[in-house]
Amino acid sequence: MKVLVLGSGGREHAIAWRLRQSPSVSQVYVAPGNPGCAGVAECLTLDSTTPEGFLALARRTGIDLTVVGPEAPLVDGVVDLFVSKGLLIFGPAQTAAQLEGSKIFSKRFMERAGIPTARFISTDDLSSAKEALGQFTYPVVVKADGLAAGKGVVICPDRQTAEATLDGMFSGALVGAAGAKVVIEEYLTGEEVSFIGLSDGERVLPLEPSQDHKTINENDEGPNTGGMGAYSDSRIITAEQREFIMREVMDRTVQHMKAEGTPFKGFLYAGLMMTARGPMVLEFNVRLGDPETQALLHRMDCDFGALLYEAARGQVRPELLKFKADPSVCVVLAAHGYPGKVRTGDAISGIEQAEQTGATVFHAGTKMAGGKLVTSGGRVLGVTRSGKTLQEAIDNTYRACDQISFDGMQIRRDIGRKGLKRWGPQTMKAGG
Ligand code: AMP
Ligand code: GLY
Repeated sequence: MKVLVLGSGGREHAIAWRLRQSPSVSQVYVAPGNPGCAGVAECLTLDSTTPEGFLALARRTGIDLTVVGPEAPLVDGVVDLFVSKGLLIFGPAQTAAQLEGSKIFSKRFMERAGIPTARFISTDDLSSAKEALGQFTYPVVVKADGLAAGKGVVICPDRQTAEATLDGMFSGALVGAAGAKVVIEEYLTGEEVSFIGLSDGERVLPLEPSQDHKTINENDEGPNTGGMGAYSDSRIITAEQREFIMREVMDRTVQHMKAEGTPFKGFLYAGLMMTARGPMVLEFNVRLGDPETQALLHRMDCDFGALLYEAARGQVRPELLKFKADPSVCVVLAAHGYPGKVRTGDAISGIEQAEQTGATVFHAGTKMAGGKLVTSGGRVLGVTRSGKTLQEAIDNTYRACDQISFDGMQIRRDIGRKGLKRWGPQTMKAGG
């Protein structure tokens, strides 16, 4: 089977890497990919990243199955187009992708379906937004309705900041057109967990839980990024929490989406806050997370291609999904200036040495220039490894990171530390 992966980041490198090891897959293509993807797959150049551009490429290359990495093509309707032309693709249709594409759609859906989430109001009018602030205490959360590349959520400590944020959203200064409508919601506290399910539109299979580290600085300080590192360990949630999330979030979502005539097929990512009131949904994404995928797929122990093929054809097969018990860690190496204005073109060294320690280095913001590998984006690399214990996985991963360098490199040294705090450094993994 020939499989095409759409996208160009660390997540897509990890997907291609895992597909390359799938017995059911004969050839992996990535469009447009990156220099790391080129090591495990054939990278295809694109005329355009529109659904039509992807379709033309898939047809020309004789692709059997297409897997979509990022949200933008899904929100643009790439799945609808492929399906209408009889091509097999794994991901949600445009209407279902609204779960990520519109925060208002997502919050209203959760309200209708009875899915636990923060209390909210939504509006497309500045003065009613300001008036609605009176219904909340501080801090309060203001979210742009549309896709905003991770910049659409502002936590406002006081009324003055909230009003200034609303001004910036409605004027377009903060996130452009994405801020023309907003959600204002109650601030939740607790630990964040990423829970991803794989759905065929009728049922949903849980992947292992993971935890992202969103801020640029250690101890969850500083501005938010796309994610500075992630780890996956079965013990991030208890068996009771897992059961609750499957019943009240995953199954409920898939059942209600089907009942409403917009069945959800694809990866359903719930960003959860584990509050004192139980797990609550902060956001839905309609794709795999980045960098959660790098850690998750490192632990995966099955034919990923066969799993996705069956799901795309309409049936998730639980017996095709298996994970190793060993926890895994992905540490992101970011460029100078990230998450602000990023400097590019810095020469990268040490990837081979890092891989010699046993780690896998996934590329995100890299490119070849004059025969050398240089930085080309905010998140540059994702250094990934597993271990018998979480402590071992962390130590292994940082040992590999220490081999790599480029000017201005930013790294958080505390990826996975929350897990260690919870379980202690010497505890064995579940069942170990
Ligand atoms: P989102 O894109 O909705 O996940 O928001 C990005 C980040 O903002 C989340 O990962 C949380 O850290 C934070 N966040 C979003 N909504 C809330 C909320 N209701 N309460 C507290 N933090 C939130
Ligand atoms: N790591 C968070 C995301 O992929 O949205």
